[in-house]
Amino acid sequence: MFSLETTSTTTADNIITDRMNLHHYLLREMHGYLVHPSIPTDNPNLRVADVGTGTGIWLTDLARQLPSTVSLDGLDISSEAAPPKEWLPKNMTLRRFDLMSEVPEDLTGVYDIVHIRLFAFVLKNDHMKTAMDNLLKLLKPGNYIQWSEPDILSWRVRTTTPDKKTEALTNLMTISQPRDERLKPTWIARLTDDFREHGLSSIDADFKDPSLEIIMPLHECNLLIHEFLARKAQSTEWAEWIKKILPEVLRETREGAAWDFTRVVVVGQKPL
Ligand SMILES: C[S@@+](CC[C@H](N)C(=O)[O-])C[C@H]1O[C@@H](n2cnc3c(N)ncnc32)[C@H](O)[C@@H]1O
Repeated sequence: MFSLETTSTTTADNIITDRMNLHHYLLREMHGYLVHPSIPTDNPNLRVADVGTGTGIWLTDLARQLPSTVSLDGLDISSEAAPPKEWLPKNMTLRRFDLMSEVPEDLTGVYDIVHIRLFAFVLKNDHMKTAMDNLLKLLKPGNYIQWSEPDILSWRVRTTTPDKKTEALTNLMTISQPRDERLKPTWIARLTDDFREHGLSSIDADFKDPSLEIIMPLHECNLLIHEFLARKAQSTEWAEWIKKILPEVLRETREGAAWDFTRVVVVGQKPL
C-alpha cells in the first residue's frame, strides 16, 4: 500500500475512492476555498494541473467555479480511481503522469496553477527534491503552486472530556508509524522551507486545525485507511493485529475520542 507505485489504487477500491471524495468536501469546508485566495484565477484561458488527481474531485469541483474556457488537467500515475471520462466536465482531461519521472515536453512550463494534495503517504523525504523540481517544471514562470497536506507529525488524540479512553487509538497510531517512514513524513513540516529553497516567492502557508464538528468526520476518513490496510494485507501478523484492535478503536471513537491533525495549504510563485 505505501510504496510509491502501489499507493495508487491498482485495483479500483471503493473505500479508497469514497474516502478521497469525502475528504475533499471536508477539506473544502475547513479551508473555505479550493484555490488559495492569493492565487489569481481571473484569466479565462487559465491552465490548471492537479497532480495525483485520484478521483479528480478537486478539479470537478473547481470546474463549477471557473468559466468553461479554462483547461483542467488531472495528472496521475493511475486512472483506476477516476470517474468515466464521459462524465467529466467538457474542459477537463485525465492523463497518465509520473511525478517521479521526466516531465514530458508538451507539459513543460504550460500551467498557470499546479495543485497537489494528499501525498503524505506517497512521498518519502528523499523523493522531495525530484517531486518539487518536476512540479515546478510544469509551471509557467511567474505562476503558482498550491500544496495541501495534513501535518502527520502534529498528530494528537482529541477527546470530548478528559476521562475518555484513548489507548487503542494511541496504540494503532504509535505502533503503525515506525513500520513505514511514510506514516511519519517529516517533509510536510518543511514544505514552506522547501518552497523557499526552490526559489519560490509570495509564499503563504495556511495552517488550520479542524473545528470541533469536523474532527469526527475527518477522523473517520482516516480510520478507513487502516480498515483498507487490514483488508488488503489479508493474513499477515500485522493485518491480524489491526483487525483485532479495530473494534476497540471504533468503541473509543463512538465514546468521544478521535485522531486530530493540523492541516496546511502552502502556496508559492515561480520566479519570472
Ligand atoms: C491519496 S491520493 C490523493 C488524491 C487527490 N490528490 C485528492 O486530494 O483527492 C494519492 C494519488 O496520488 C497518485 N500517485 C501516487 N504516486 C504518484 C506518482 N508518482 N505520480 C503521480 N501520481 C501519483 C495516486 O495514484 C493517487 O491517485
